[in-house]
Amino acid sequence: MALDTQISIAVIGAGAMGSGIAQVAAQAGHRVFLHDQREGAAQKGRDGIARQLQRRVDKGKMEQQDLDGVISRIQPVASLDEVAEAGLVIEAIIEDLGIKRQLLANLEELCAGDTILATNTSSISVTALGAEMKKPERLVGMHFFNPAPLMALVEVVLGLATSKAVAETVHATATAWGKKPVYATSTPGFIVNRVARPFYAESLRLLQEKATDAETLDALIRESGQFRMGAFELTDLIGHDVNYAVTNSVFNSYYQDPRFLPSLIQKELVEAGRLGRKTGQGFYSYGEGAEKPQP
Ligand code: NAI
Repeated sequence: MALDTQISIAVIGAGAMGSGIAQVAAQAGHRVFLHDQREGAAQKGRDGIARQLQRRVDKGKMEQQDLDGVISRIQPVASLDEVAEAGLVIEAIIEDLGIKRQLLANLEELCAGDTILATNTSSISVTALGAEMKKPERLVGMHFFNPAPLMALVEVVLGLATSKAVAETVHATATAWGKKPVYATSTPGFIVNRVARPFYAESLRLLQEKATDAETLDALIRESGQFRMGAFELTDLIGHDVNYAVTNSVFNSYYQDPRFLPSLIQKELVEAGRLGRKTGQGFYSYGEGAEKPQP
């Protein structure tokens, strides 16, 4: 059964994904606590949601009172302690096993025994994330796609210890939130990130081999392949730090199978801090007011 809307939700990490997930839960009627360790980030996340929804109101696609309702249900909280009363906590912090494990340990201390702990990890084993938990049966993957308010798919990922009842609650809750959930096991990259690996990897290899440039390849994939975006536009949207971490995670989980070899071009972007849209520069530039990304 889906979680009742009287039950509050907490989202940890107010970056691209956390903010989007907070919006989805608040639009479904839940009170949402939004926490980020960076000062001001949760407030910034909520402001971003308000700006985005205001555009919908301006276009006549949403009522002002609905926007006000959604925003009033999202409460940025400065301290992790303030999420204690949530019935479902979804973590969307940095893609790093050790840091996520530490957060889960803190959440286990803080939250009630029956609070469901969910991870939005793209690629880290849910089994490994739960391995040091006191109650790993309450940990489940709830993997949204970017941008979370628009993308319907949610992978509900079961680690070895995940309770079936917990997974079913999360599946039903995602459905109640208007999503199309699918069950997956905790195999490296789950389903979509596995299928997508060759798309990124071969595009990056073509670039490295100088077969063509990023803009030409993106346009080709969009116009001839009928994809929404080419690999370079998409990885700029995802964030190169995130995409590179996911590739490394899948590569290492598969005993360094060369099929999943990370790209030196992407490594360079990460090292330069050119993380894509979120830093204003990746394969393309996203200057103030730029209508179209500049190659
Ligand atoms: P992001 O870099 O936009 O945001 C991460 C946020 O987490 C930052 O604001 C950071 O300050 C905060 N943070 C880091 N450590 C923290 C901690 N210990 N406590 C509280 N806050 C902390 O990253 P993004 O893209 O939102 O990704 C977050 C998670 O979602 C990752 O696990 C990623 O793999 C996953 N994901 C990302 C997708 C994407 O397209 N970017 C798609 C689906 C999943």
